[in-house]
Amino acid sequence: MGSPLIVTIDGPAGVGKSTMAKRLARLLSIPYLDTGAMFRSVAWKLGKGAWNWSEEDLEKALDGLAYSLSGVGEDSVLSLNGKPIGNEIRTEEVGMWASNIATLPVVRNFLKKAQQALGERFSLVAEGRDMGTVVFPGAPHKFFLDASVEERAQRRFLQLERMGKPADLDELREQIAKRDAQDRNRPVAPLKPADDAIVIDTTELDRDQVLAALKEAVA
Ligand code: DC
Repeated sequence: MGSPLIVTIDGPAGVGKSTMAKRLARLLSIPYLDTGAMFRSVAWKLGKGAWNWSEEDLEKALDGLAYSLSGVGEDSVLSLNGKPIGNEIRTEEVGMWASNIATLPVVRNFLKKAQQALGERFSLVAEGRDMGTVVFPGAPHKFFLDASVEERAQRRFLQLERMGKPADLDELREQIAKRDAQDRNRPVAPLKPADDAIVIDTTELDRDQVLAALKEAVA
């Protein structure tokens, strides 16, 4: 068996990274890793305000968290302490908590190690904010997806509606813009394309067109 294949997909909130990562992973018959779900689940588990804790308390709490991955493509299941991570983390509020704790080096280092450990065991389509720049800098295929805030708010609105979590579009647009600013401007592992990433503006593209572009590049 050769070494695992890692494909990275980075980009801002609501750009459709998860959908594309699942579909590309299905085509490649490998798992996809939703690293946003890792940050969200830490935020959810530690609770509101954890970003104000001391580094020592954070370290203690993180010490009790272990991630595992099973399945392939859209059937990939990411578990925390043996329990699949569910839809309770899929709100904009928890997204903002995740963005807050994601500014903390102690949290980022902990999750970086967990992500790299999974990447040593499995081939992955890994999606997040710093997959191509920090976590898997040597990955042979790197993508950065982008789209206007308006388009991303629309996509998130429809996604939440499908989950039975209706949201207010104006509020979503504002929350996404705020989260973007925090993710792009933090000093540690800010959201940005890797120098060797293929950047795709998906504003005017449908999902099949984006997938075709990814597929062509990986082939
Ligand atoms: O992709 P998402 O919306 O589920 O991510 C939630 C937050 O987690 C995001 O606003 C910033 C943080 N995050 C990160 O800093 N690095 C990653 N690789 C993934 C997510």
